[in-house]
Amino acid sequence: MGAFHHLSVLPEEVIRFLEPTDGKTYLDGTLGGGGHTSLILENAPGSQVIGIDRDQSALSAAAARLAAYGDRVRLVHGDFAGVANHVRALGVEALDGFILDLGVSSHQLDTRERGFSFQQDAPLDMRMDISNGETAADLVNGLSEQELERIIGEYGEERWARRIASFIVRERTESPITTTFRLVDIIKGAVPKAKWDERIHPATRTFQALCIAVNTELDSLERGMRAALDLLKPGGRGVIISFHSLEDRIVKHIFREYAEGCTCPRQLPVCVCGKQPRVKILTGRPVTATQEETDSNPRARSAKLRAVVKL
Ligand SMILES: C[S@@+](CC[C@H](N)C(=O)[O-])C[C@H]1O[C@@H](n2cnc3c(N)ncnc32)[C@H](O)[C@@H]1O
Repeated sequence: MGAFHHLSVLPEEVIRFLEPTDGKTYLDGTLGGGGHTSLILENAPGSQVIGIDRDQSALSAAAARLAAYGDRVRLVHGDFAGVANHVRALGVEALDGFILDLGVSSHQLDTRERGFSFQQDAPLDMRMDISNGETAADLVNGLSEQELERIIGEYGEERWARRIASFIVRERTESPITTTFRLVDIIKGAVPKAKWDERIHPATRTFQALCIAVNTELDSLERGMRAALDLLKPGGRGVIISFHSLEDRIVKHIFREYAEGCTCPRQLPVCVCGKQPRVKILTGRPVTATQEETDSNPRARSAKLRAVVKL
């Protein structure tokens, strides 16, 4: 795979909700190819961006693309779940805005040897950060049948999770499952052909589940989101783009929790909890891509953007 390729989703909407302004400091917690970061830097010439990515190859590509911006960009290799430590290590105490554009990049998906895609045969890896952690093969060969069923059912929302888990466990006793195509064949064998959904490949949900589990994506999202919201200055804005319902649910609930004021029972005459809303939600419904954008970037089809402003 050659140069880094990834079309940033919802570019105009990100700028509209983030409102980047000269002299302010923004966080791009999912730097990828640096597409959204360069939009911020272009739209607010005196601004600065701290860009985080778990994937060293994304960071290298972004560093090359953003070199012309000099010290307006600072790049960090790490999980955005640890954003509080990452920004403090750079001497930054608070943020004027953040963007999280979740999931894997087109570049990661299309780089065969990373093992994210069920459409290319490759080692079963799926780690965004190849410098540490367990691979998808480690999970598939090492977890109990019950745990595999839970992961595939919960993170993949796959109704055939039990059968898929049992086929995996039966097959791995023959020999360890080490490639994407072997796993695809096992899944195809487990899901009755008459029940295959024409619109999505039978391996889609299991691969989504394993990617989430390998990269502890939901836990990182929850921790990273809370930390980034806590770091926002009053008037600072947070924008999150998610690509499936599990992520969107977390984003929606945490935004609502931060937007909520008093939680005292109605029958109490006065507030005793003292809770004040910490953010205002700017997107009642999630913002989605226009037909024009999805025509040129199919990945944008499932993108949902939610945004808040800190009070
Ligand atoms: C959809 S891409 C971002 C593309 C980017 N917005 C652009 O316009 O070029 C998501 C990126 O976030 C990274 N990523 C996902 N989860 C992460 C996490 N918890 N911490 C740090 N980086 C993460 C992935 O490695 C990937 O490079």
